[in-house]
Amino acid sequence: MTQVSNQKSLKSIFAITLMAATLGLTACSTPVDPDVKARQDIMKNFGDAMKVMGGMAKEPDTFDADVFKEQAAFLAEESKNPWSHFNNKDAAGNAKAEVWSNVDGFKAEAENFQKVTAELSAAAQTATSIDDVMPAFKPVGDSCKSCHTDFQVEKD
Ligand code: HEC
Repeated sequence: MTQVSNQKSLKSIFAITLMAATLGLTACSTPVDPDVKARQDIMKNFGDAMKVMGGMAKEPDTFDADVFKEQAAFLAEESKNPWSHFNNKDAAGNAKAEVWSNVDGFKAEAENFQKVTAELSAAAQTATSIDDVMPAFKPVGDSCKSCHTDFQVEKD
């Protein structure tokens, strides 16, 4: 085998591998409903914000008033955004059927969440230590949990 043809066959092997990888990827990702994706993306951001603030709750020495304020404000602003993406009950994602059969219950959870995140953001404005925000932080975590218990499909 000459050097040239060797390179050629390597190239085509590479091309085939690439193609297979591309096809494999396409086959694996079932199309996700845009509303499901939108609300899951928002929820993921909620999770990230809670991680940052929860980290400070665990290690009070790391409390950073500006960062906490920013995350709390983010939650408060975004708190009204997921719910319009729950209109189509055929796009279940990991939402329980109760989202659509217990509309009032779901709405109450969503409204409570908006209330407690607004209170947390307000408390964060003047906070100088984690102690100043803890009374408002706990109800936010409770709100996430409470809604998930009733309305999110449990994962193993
Ligand atoms: C009013 C109800 C409600 C509240 C409040 C709520 N969630 Fe959710 N959350 C859901 C539902 C329903 C799903 C499932 C959505 C889906 O898969 O379509 C979900 C999914 C998630 C997911 C998984 C997203 C993914 O990638 O599939 C995360 C993470 C999450 N929530 C975090 C939070 C955090 C953190 C909070 C509080 C700061 C919160 N949620 C508040 C109802 C709620």
